[in-house]
Amino acid sequence: MTLSPVLTRPAWPTDRRITIRDLQAATDRGEKWSMLTSYDTQTAGLMERAGVRAILVGDTSGMTVFGHTDTIAVTMDHLIPMVQAVVRGTETALVVADLPFGSYQAGPKQALANAVRHLKEGGAQAVKLEGGGRIRKQVRRLADAGIPVMGHLGLTPQSVNVLGGVRRVQGRGEAGEQLLNDALALEAAGAFAIVLESVPAELGQRVTKEIRIPTVGIGAGPHCDAQILVWQDLAGLTPGRLPKFVKKYADLDKVLGEAFARFCSEVADGRYPDDAHSYS
Ligand code: KIV
Repeated sequence: MTLSPVLTRPAWPTDRRITIRDLQAATDRGEKWSMLTSYDTQTAGLMERAGVRAILVGDTSGMTVFGHTDTIAVTMDHLIPMVQAVVRGTETALVVADLPFGSYQAGPKQALANAVRHLKEGGAQAVKLEGGGRIRKQVRRLADAGIPVMGHLGLTPQSVNVLGGVRRVQGRGEAGEQLLNDALALEAAGAFAIVLESVPAELGQRVTKEIRIPTVGIGAGPHCDAQILVWQDLAGLTPGRLPKFVKKYADLDKVLGEAFARFCSEVADGRYPDDAHSYS
């Protein structure tokens, strides 16, 4: 029996990049999908081969790559080479580039100029910015220009100086209503998905129900359409106490720490390089 092309077509493309329509289609058929941050070619390729559908080149690189305590110092010029690296390391994953603090707050014109840089210079397929109703004009301008926009609500790390830290759960009580209105405003302005960070699971569920575009949770409970984590958190590389929502899927801190220590001791006692690792 020959199956019709519709029945044989894989749900996710294998010969081209995933688009925002593929993400929406997965959400519409009730399939949850995964997203991770990456800032380099090698981890991006690994993630894609593991089934990660979208990769965020996030301004968390301010902490994970550049050693800052928050995301404020990150610029477009920091992010663009990382976006290029992630694009080079992937073939099918949708690459989303963060618009960093100061790159879109001045208005739609500034947002458009920087989003265009991410697509033209970086090779990204989409951009992400933080905020709700107050940035709807920026979102509308980008969407009108054909640039897919991901929103980000709840804990928005670029607002660290008004939030008073980035560990607080957002959207409790009346703030939940405001967050829902912000989500509706972003959807109406043309966003294709919304990250919900550090909000109660009930609010994550409510927003997911009320909007059609996918919600991407990070500390927003199990009901979101997709989930995202910062890869170093998931891999056990981030030192110190992590937020409750982070699940450690590996202990790379230990694995790599031991590898580096073995290298040092083998160099010190002459066991490395041995004949097997030397040219004759
Ligand atoms: O920059 C980033 O990595 C993010 C995630 C935490 C969602 O915005």
